[in-house]
Amino acid sequence: MTRLRLGVNIDHVATVRNARGGAYPDPLRAAKLSEEAGADGITAHLREDRRHISDADIDGLMEVLTVPLNFEMAATPEMQAIALRHKPHAVCIVPEKREERTTEGGLEVAREENRIAHFIAPLRDAGSRVSIFIAADQRQIEAAHRIGAQVIELHTGAYCDFHAEGNIAARDSELQKLTEMSSLAHSLGLEVHAGHGLTYDTVSPIAQLPEVIELNIGHFIIGEAIFRGLTPAIAEMRRLMDEARA
Ligand code: PXP
Repeated sequence: MTRLRLGVNIDHVATVRNARGGAYPDPLRAAKLSEEAGADGITAHLREDRRHISDADIDGLMEVLTVPLNFEMAATPEMQAIALRHKPHAVCIVPEKREERTTEGGLEVAREENRIAHFIAPLRDAGSRVSIFIAADQRQIEAAHRIGAQVIELHTGAYCDFHAEGNIAARDSELQKLTEMSSLAHSLGLEVHAGHGLTYDTVSPIAQLPEVIELNIGHFIIGEAIFRGLTPAIAEMRRLMDEARA
């Protein structure tokens, strides 16, 4: 099986910084340390309300990173202009609602095919790989393929939530969907990524899906870094991914 890439999402370093409005902890320092700890990429979500990552963070990441930046963004003209200015390695289009605590569901591509197709075309033309964050749903995957996305990222949030609630039947049914849909996406020629809510307890079955070639993980790693430090927190995630993949 191909080696699984780990993208470390540093949004929540910025969440802690913004709690006091100062300059620390610095997400750029976390990004550089993540690189040194073996992250294959850095993910950052510039939200419309700038609740964590700021415009200046994106400027800084583009300047200092040696690994690819996966720039998560909503499908809005403002974010499109920012992405076109920076031309990051990858853009991941996510749904965004102001009132949500985190990205709760996948993007509704099937119902908005035309709009999203027009939205992503200039990003792809500018050289960014376009990824669409979607639920493990055949309609959404086929729509993502039709509009010319190169990558889909499957939303693992429901699978992780069911695991945390101890609802094993629902968790396994969600895992089955993720398994079938990663295979469908791959057969259509899409590159398959996955992420959201993954922890040491939930990562292995996702890492075992042969078509998935990248995981994007943030909140748990940053939380775990409080207890064991960022480098060991990433190393343990890497170890579990490699073990699952072996
Ligand atoms: N992938 C996408 C598309 C996301 O929106 C997020 C959260 O920003 C993640 C991965 C990482 O999720 P988590 O922080 O729960 O690991």
